[in-house]
Amino acid sequence: MKRPVAELVGTGRYTPSKVLTNADLEKMVDTSDEWIRERTGIRERRIAEPHETVAYMSKMAAEQVLEEAGIGPEDIDAIVLGTASPDRLLPATACDLQAILGARNAAAFDIQAACSGFIYGLSVAEGLIASGMAEHVLVVGAERLSTITDYRDRSTCILFGDGAGATLVRRATDGRRGILSGYLKSDGTLAELLYRPGGGGCHPPDEKLLADRSYYIKMAGREVFKSAVKSMADACDRALERAGLTSEDIDLLIPHQANIRIIEATAKHAGVPMEKVYVNIDRYGNTSAASIPIALDECVRCGRIREGSNVLLVAFGGGFTWASMVVRW
Ligand code: UT7
Repeated sequence: MKRPVAELVGTGRYTPSKVLTNADLEKMVDTSDEWIRERTGIRERRIAEPHETVAYMSKMAAEQVLEEAGIGPEDIDAIVLGTASPDRLLPATACDLQAILGARNAAAFDIQAACSGFIYGLSVAEGLIASGMAEHVLVVGAERLSTITDYRDRSTCILFGDGAGATLVRRATDGRRGILSGYLKSDGTLAELLYRPGGGGCHPPDEKLLADRSYYIKMAGREVFKSAVKSMADACDRALERAGLTSEDIDLLIPHQANIRIIEATAKHAGVPMEKVYVNIDRYGNTSAASIPIALDECVRCGRIREGSNVLLVAFGGGFTWASMVVRW
């Protein structure tokens, strides 16, 4: 097993207090609470109010991380923010976060790897530390998907929610705890199965964009579902293999919260019993890049992750992108 270069210290999360229930959605589109629960496992999701921007939610999560890590904002060397729903298209939301957090010595940039953004961010942070570029990297996954969700499209609007989670990656302090392995993968040939057709350079904003609603997320759910199961299963195997561990060594699996059926299939393939799988999709829906860091923070705070726990993270999302990581706490 490799000696870890970097470790995670401190976690934080922020979720808006406004709740959108399945009963609320029944009044907006042709759906039912029963269909949503059976097909996805979701009961409710959180929706940001106007002041709850991605940068604001990230700051609230980051402040908890800094307090636990015992460092100030000026000690951060880099901010890596995974998001698919940035506050503005330019500059990076990470720069807005830097400004309101007061992280004046940090480099700041976004990662657009959709739901895999947080694990991609952890890997980039590990690399920055390994190369000597940074000692303290704030990694955030934050989304305000409600701003890019079409609340007339029942196949997508029942899924998504808003929120943020964060952690700090720093140089490993002993040979045991830290990032034991990582695996990143993408397949851009399947991009149009989960994407936003309009709003970028290929289809700049115009009246047609508003009329055809191409600004919003479009998803071929069934195809995405199949790829997610296959890719997340494979990613679990790769991360375990690279860490020199088996599923029996894993104390907790934290999968991206996209659909309870995808989570169950991933756990089954990985050989991890559901008692060792963290699920909060019922309360938050799919929060894309924020889903794993929100879950991580809940697990640390409720004692499901303790010192020495081996945690397997796995995600899949638009791109397609997928990723996994084994972390010893
Ligand atoms: O976060 C990263 C990636 N995202 C995912 O991993 C999401 C992956 N996909 C999924 O989770 C599922 O595909 C969905 C939850 C989106 C859809 O579930 P499904 O079991 O794959 O349903 P389907 O798309 O095959 O649709 C089955 C039926 C269709 O009706 P017909 O054609 O059988 O008459 C849909 O029109 O369900 C209908 N349907 C709905 N019915 C009630 C689709 N959405 C709804 C809805 N309420 N909200």
